[in-house]
Order: sequence, then C-alpha cells, then structure tokens
Amino acid sequence: MAIVPNDISDVIEADRANVWHHLIQHKPFESIDPRVMVEGKGMRVWDATGKEHLDAVSGGVWTVNVGYGRERIANAVRDQLLQMPYFAGSAGSIPGAKFAEKLISKMPGMTRVYYCNSGSEANEKAFKMVRQIAHKKYGGKKHKILYRDRDYHGTTIACLSAGGQDERGAQYGPFTPGFVRVPHCLEYRAQVETENYGEWAANQIEEVILREGPDTVGALCLEPVTAGGGVITPPEGYWERVGEICAKYDILLHIDEVVCGVGRTGTWFGYQHYGIKPDFVTMAKGVASGYAAIACMVTTEEVFGMFKEDADDPMGYFRDISTFGGCTAGPAAALENMAIIEEEGLLDNTTAMGARLIDNLNGLMEKHRVIGDVRGKGLFCGAELVADRATKEAVDEKKAQAVVADCMSQGVVIGVTNRSLPGLNNTLCFSPALISTADDIDEITTAVDKALTRVFS
Ligand SMILES: Cc1ncc(COP(=O)(O)O)c(C=O)c1O
Repeated sequence: MAIVPNDISDVIEADRANVWHHLIQHKPFESIDPRVMVEGKGMRVWDATGKEHLDAVSGGVWTVNVGYGRERIANAVRDQLLQMPYFAGSAGSIPGAKFAEKLISKMPGMTRVYYCNSGSEANEKAFKMVRQIAHKKYGGKKHKILYRDRDYHGTTIACLSAGGQDERGAQYGPFTPGFVRVPHCLEYRAQVETENYGEWAANQIEEVILREGPDTVGALCLEPVTAGGGVITPPEGYWERVGEICAKYDILLHIDEVVCGVGRTGTWFGYQHYGIKPDFVTMAKGVASGYAAIACMVTTEEVFGMFKEDADDPMGYFRDISTFGGCTAGPAAALENMAIIEEEGLLDNTTAMGARLIDNLNGLMEKHRVIGDVRGKGLFCGAELVADRATKEAVDEKKAQAVVADCMSQGVVIGVTNRSLPGLNNTLCFSPALISTADDIDEITTAVDKALTRVFS
C-alpha cells in the first residue's frame, strides 16, 4: 500500500513557521522541509512526500508496540470519550479500574496503580513518595535517591537530576539535591578487568551507599535494560546482588520500565527476566502504544499502606495530582493494547523475532569491523559502532548518524543514541513493533548492511 498525499505544503509551512520539534537542531529547516509523518499501518509509516518506511523504532522512541492503525484501540477510545472523557483522579473511572486490575495481574507482588501521563511524571511520583516516606519514617534523613551512569529517567529538572546522560543534563542545571550517581554496568566498557563483572558492578552501588551513609539513602532507581544510554543489558549476577544490597540497607528499589514495560523485551516487564522484587515500577511509552498518553507508577501494598496509616493526619497521604492522569482515553487504550498482545501472542513473537534480530546483527558484526558489540533483549537491540575494535574508540557520531540517514533513504527508520553521552553517541538502536515478522527483521538488517558498507567503505 502506498499513499499519495494531497498537497499538504500548507501544513509543512505551518510546521516550519510555528512548531518547535523535540530534540532537534532547527537551522536546517530554513532550507529543507521538516519531516512530517502522515499515516501509519502495521509496521509501516508514510511521510508527507508519500514515501513509505519500515519503522524499526516503533514511532522513533520505543512506543508503538502493537503497530499502527489498530482500529479496536481507536474504537475503544472513541466510545470511552463519548461516555466519559475525564474526571479528576481523586475519583475512579471504569477503564481506570479495569486496566489497573489487568495490569496488576501481570505484576505479582504489586497492588496499586497511580495514573499520570508521561514517563518523567511517573518517575517524579516515585521520587516524591520516597521523599515523603523519608519524612514519615526517618525524620527526612533517608531521602537520597541513587541513579546509574548512562540511565535516563526523563526530562524534568528532578528527572535530569537523576539522569546518567550528561549531554541531556548539560546547561539545564543547577539540579535538585539528593540524587547520587552510581557506576554503569556495561560489560563491553567495563571499568575494571574482573571475572565476575556483574557482581563487581553491583558492588559499586554498595560502595556509594556506604560512602553516602545507608541511613541517608532511600531508593535506588534503575532501568532493567538501559535504553537511550546505549541498550545496556545487565551482566550476569548483577541483579541478584542489587537485590541483596537493597534488602541489606533497607533501600526501596524503583525500576524504570518506561521503555522495557509491556512486552518490549519478551516478558510483560523487563525486570521479570531477572527475578527482581521492585517497590516501584514506572511505565509509559508502550502502555497504550502511543494511541493515548498514559503513564503508571505501580507500587506494593506495603508502600501504599504507609500513606494511609494515620487517617487523621491531613498531611499524611500522598498529596499529589496529575490533571491528565484523570483522562480515560489512556486506560481504555491500554486495555485494548494489552488484549492485543495477549490474543496475538506478541510476547512469544517478541522473543522469537528478537532472537532473529540479534542473530542478524551478530552476522553483520562478522562482516563489518565497525560493529564492536551487539546487545539486546527481545525486540530491543543495539549495535555499538567503534573506529577500532582493540581500543573500542567510538566512531565519530556523524558517521553513526550517516548510517541512520542512509537507512532512512532506503525506507527503513532506525535510531541511534542521541545527545546522551559525550563521545559515546555511537549505538544504533532497533526496536521494531512486537508484531514484526521474519521478513521485517531481515529487511531492517539488510538496510543496515548496505548502509554500513556505504558509510564505512
Ligand atoms: C527509561 C526512560 N525513562 C523515562 C523516560 C521519560 O519518559 P517521557 O518522555 O514520557 O517523560 C524515557 C524517555 O525516553 C526513558 O527512556
């Protein structure tokens, strides 16, 4: 199928004149047209020129997990909007209750869902709860939140304060106090040579806790698989040790599933690969595959209980609101999204197609010396490009971007780590929708093969 767009030059001009796009330098748009996406169906998207693309990044940022053009989601949202579009979240809603029940059924050990509307906001909710728990139980002392080098938790000032990607944070300080960085766990760029890197990397967290004082550390916030920081799968033994450390020092574990959540890695949640018992789980992007804005902060009955202990204390409950957390389109879409994943067996498909994608990328690594490392879990993969395999010196990021541009010209949209880490924006990112077929996967890696040949020959 190809669409022949009507003339939308007026749209392009309106966009050029009045829209400030995300995360992009605008000077070039004075001479070239900004990209405007017009239509999507399944794995394919069409831009304003009518050009068809295979979308290997689910809407650019790991979001459209069930693919484009899902009528049943659109219909459910439409029906819900006509019945009851909105009421503030101090009241419940029919889809809100139903989705919470469904979501909790996939998350043993968790019981409570707090609705809001972006990944950043969901993370802020958890941060606020940690701070309030510190006040309730520890005189405010156990308030520090640890975050990891190379992880990202969002765009607000507090989330950037918990951000391990220095190019995202640069020029936006000063930051919120009380956030403390721990080292990354990317074995390919291991900070030391050791037989048991996973345990070593986790032990570095303990070092930070001991340095800061365990009685000052309230929580540890981590991505199960780091996304924009370079698709970092955890080394063996890492999570077991992290769990032990959190238990030892009474530290709440906050898992940021904004990217991994709702199927991306082949399980409902990324943390479920690693036997982790979180206290907070935050999620956004794939919860409704981008058909509606919805984010959730999910926690345990134990945490929930702390906020209702004293019904007479007017300051004792969670005094927070998210206006758009009361929109019903989000949970209505999320219910259908989850039903699609179940009915179409998309978790199994993600595991199978993810294995194919990794195999294909490993094949490309044999052919192209510029690929230094291939990593991934499910349909969430990365290929790190290096100028020299021995020194692991990163390729010039312009070259990594040239690979993306070449794929785009072939009609395949892939991603690359972008304004994340100084000198290390060199990992190609692949996150096609969970409906990917073997042909889709092969089409993606064939395009990458051609692009690498052209850019690096
Ligand atoms: C791991 C992670 N957490 C949080 C966020 C922030 O989500 P949002 O952009 O919805 O605020 C992102 C966004 O890319 C993310 O990758």
